[in-house]
Amino acid sequence: MYPPAWMLTRIATTDTHLGRHLIPAGSTIAYSPYLLHHRPDLYPDPDRFDPDRWADEHTATPPREALIPFGSGARKCVGDVFAITEATLALATLAARWHLQLLPGRHVHPARAVLLHPRGLRMRATARSVSHRSSGAGTGASVDHEPNQRNYSDLWRRGQ
Ligand code: HEM
Repeated sequence: MYPPAWMLTRIATTDTHLGRHLIPAGSTIAYSPYLLHHRPDLYPDPDRFDPDRWADEHTATPPREALIPFGSGARKCVGDVFAITEATLALATLAARWHLQLLPGRHVHPARAVLLHPRGLRMRATARSVSHRSSGAGTGASVDHEPNQRNYSDLWRRGQ
């Protein structure tokens, strides 16, 4: 919904009709994935954080071309799958270890620069405590600890 590349461009190679407009060859066209992602006819309540917009049970799933954070067509980003995989892993890794909370009184706004980025995003990171049952021994004992590097190494070794 908030594409870092909020404005993209294309150059018309031939005279082109776009709707009612003639785009002469050589013209630069600027278009905004951000505006597309915020069209209320495509995305009801577009400013609302709603990761379930694309859930299967939603009947009004927006069309595929309505979401273009990586551009579209022949010059589309070549790193899109890598970037989505990396972002998903990074988020899952961080969220498993840290509880992130917006500081009181803070309001986050999208800010335009070369890339769209959040302004006012000050957060408190609190380490999540981890509870697990020792495996194999059958004691049912649980261990609570802070998730630092040493503890994760211990868990890794115990799993071997
Ligand atoms: C969240 C991360 C990323 C975003 C939002 C992003 C977004 C974009 C966008 C919007 C374009 C222009 C597409 C167009 O004009 O239609 C682009 C182009 C490109 N991106 Fe990414 N990108 C990301 C990560 C990556 C990564 C990880 C790589 C490489 C591993 C990469 C490599 C490229 C390349 C080479 C192009 C130029 C493609 C061309 O002109 O043919 N990007 N990207």
